[in-house]
Amino acid sequence: MPFLVEQLRQRQFTPIELKKALAVEELPTPALVLNRAALMRNIEKMKVHLGAAGKGFRPHAKTHKCPIISKLQIDAGAVGVCVAKVSEAVVLLASGVNTVLITSPVTTATKANVVGDLALQGASLSVVVDSEFGLEVLLACLPQDARLNVLVDLDAAMGRTGTRSESVMLRLVEKISADQRLTFAGCQHYAGHVMHIEGYEPRRELSLKLWATIEERLVWLRAQGIGIEIVTGSGTGTYDIDTEVASITDLQVGSYIFMDEEYCCIGSQSADRFDDFEVSLTIACTTISQPMDGMITVDGGFKSMASDTVFPVPYDLAATKFRFAGDEHGVLISKESMQSVTLGQVIQLVTPHCDPTVNLHDYYWVQEEDGLIHSCWPVSARGCTW
Ligand SMILES: Cc1ncc(COP(=O)(O)O)c(C=O)c1O
Repeated sequence: MPFLVEQLRQRQFTPIELKKALAVEELPTPALVLNRAALMRNIEKMKVHLGAAGKGFRPHAKTHKCPIISKLQIDAGAVGVCVAKVSEAVVLLASGVNTVLITSPVTTATKANVVGDLALQGASLSVVVDSEFGLEVLLACLPQDARLNVLVDLDAAMGRTGTRSESVMLRLVEKISADQRLTFAGCQHYAGHVMHIEGYEPRRELSLKLWATIEERLVWLRAQGIGIEIVTGSGTGTYDIDTEVASITDLQVGSYIFMDEEYCCIGSQSADRFDDFEVSLTIACTTISQPMDGMITVDGGFKSMASDTVFPVPYDLAATKFRFAGDEHGVLISKESMQSVTLGQVIQLVTPHCDPTVNLHDYYWVQEEDGLIHSCWPVSARGCTW
């Protein structure tokens, strides 16, 4: 493991300025294009919204895997950042981001030893636990001088991580509080299955119902004399719903910075498309072949765009659909607009699912207001899946 950690620490964390600005048409496609002005507007809009509701934000870096973006979010007032995995924490901490919460439980000595090493380095590192087994593993691997904040992960209905048991919750808090290396920092609850429910009202109804279940447990815990400083969770799909939950202290919003087709489809409080935030991220692909009329093949497929449900969507080609045509290829299909598309043309597509798509790329090509790409931002935590 030390060699892996060392390699992660040596990754590039800062922008690479291009000697000559590039047009999108000049990019080596498939390429991730990030519109910086739209990204900044999304960051600002979320900050203002949560600030007005009296909530903090702890944006999830699993979406972008890029310390440059984490630092922009921290500059905008984030209380810290989340990562899904220990390896992502290694990268962010090495880049100088120093308030990090790992939102998935750790249950092996292999990973707990890395956490122990990170917890010695003076940064503010937090982890979640949801089992006594996981807590014991952490305790066994944590050096005497290490300091670690621990949150108890609570599940209501998703069935992914988090405990549903009050007694487990209480025992975890007691054990955390009894160890001088650990600080009980609060609770996490994330209901991922609610985020993409179509329609604002059904999404709101289920999210608030699940949070009501969680709040009952928090009330019970407080009645046992336990102070709960942080209650963290939520995501982009319920960013304007969970602010109604009194006990939440901060929201772990991730995808709002980029927006992807999966999110655009769910609808917002006032519109059929969820367009509260702008699409700032697209994949540029080039047309490379046209075996028949009404379709044209581009150079991007499953190796450059990840989707578990919807397809990528051509950004500014009306009535054109994208279909995957294998690992390296996709096909644009249209009866009406294909005449205007020629070979060698660069087409921008809205990402189907932004997080796993980003994980397939080395760089963001950052587009400025003059329409040109002046710099690349490394996806520094690319491939950090452990
Ligand atoms: C624990 C946790 N918190 C927050 C998020 C961010 O969600 P979103 O991208 O929907 O904002 C995720 C995303 O999967 C997550 O797993």
